[in-house]
Amino acid sequence: MADGLTPGAADPVSDGRTPAARTPDVLTLTGLSWSVGGSAILSGVDLAVGEGEFVAVIGPNGAGKTSLFNLISGLNRASAGRIFLDGADITTEAPHKRARRGIGRTFQASSVFPTMTVAEHVALAGQVAAKRHALSRAATGADVLERVRLTEKSGALAADLSHGDKRKLELAMLLASGAERLLLLDEPMAGVASGDVPELVDVIRTLHRAEGRTVLMVEHHMEVLLGLADRVAVMHHGALLAIDTPARIMADARVQEAYVGDAL
Ligand SMILES: Nc1ncnc2c1ncn2[C@@H]1O[C@H](COP(=O)(O)OP(=O)(O)O)[C@@H](O)[C@H]1O
Ligand SMILES: [Mg+2]
Repeated sequence: MADGLTPGAADPVSDGRTPAARTPDVLTLTGLSWSVGGSAILSGVDLAVGEGEFVAVIGPNGAGKTSLFNLISGLNRASAGRIFLDGADITTEAPHKRARRGIGRTFQASSVFPTMTVAEHVALAGQVAAKRHALSRAATGADVLERVRLTEKSGALAADLSHGDKRKLELAMLLASGAERLLLLDEPMAGVASGDVPELVDVIRTLHRAEGRTVLMVEHHMEVLLGLADRVAVMHHGALLAIDTPARIMADARVQEAYVGDAL
């Protein structure tokens, strides 16, 4: 299927998925491109993420990782190509409609309200979900706080949380808002003290493995990726350079070359 308009175009061999491990696509990108003022930021990205899969996105700074998330979540509109969620074409859909379909994202910079408590954040996210008519999917505040291991901090102000706990709170808000189909996590370890990274990794791993969440996550730290990702997608100069198992990506000469001169 090379028409760029149909989901399921990814090749089962070259994209690192074995036929036996294939699940139906949750997310399919075909020829996805984004230009600003005549310069191409993303060009021709083809990517398929299966149900329950964890795909890490790596690449040097400025490679287009955040821009890719902006297109998938609807913050920016694609210049060309298509985005499918569960087979439905959402390329031109508004962000709130994509959220209603179960796409949730976190941002590179931590985004919590300093003067609100942990519990208030989760309640707010639940109210937003209710407004989106996603009540059936929205989980209760106590439940999501337990799932991200923040129950004991439910009365704390966000301002008083460590960076790691702020990241957990953002995950709790995603869960409370009914983001059931696809979690887009943009550098969730950014700013988190190294001692707090293992627990945050463990929370994300549990959401993925125990709850079967489909995750696309930008992350630079290979030691984090290796314990989480089924596959690794490498972006470079706005294109998808390679996508394969973590072990094969680590051994890929093209990937190593892309990083020469670029600080991870
Ligand atoms: N709104 C925008 N307008 C113009 N250029 C942008 C915009 N957003 C991102 N870019 C450019 O696109 C490139 C990719 O950025 P980004 O997606 O943030 O990369 P990454 O997340 O991989 O570090 C960078 O050169 C950046 O300056
Ligand atoms: Mg980025």
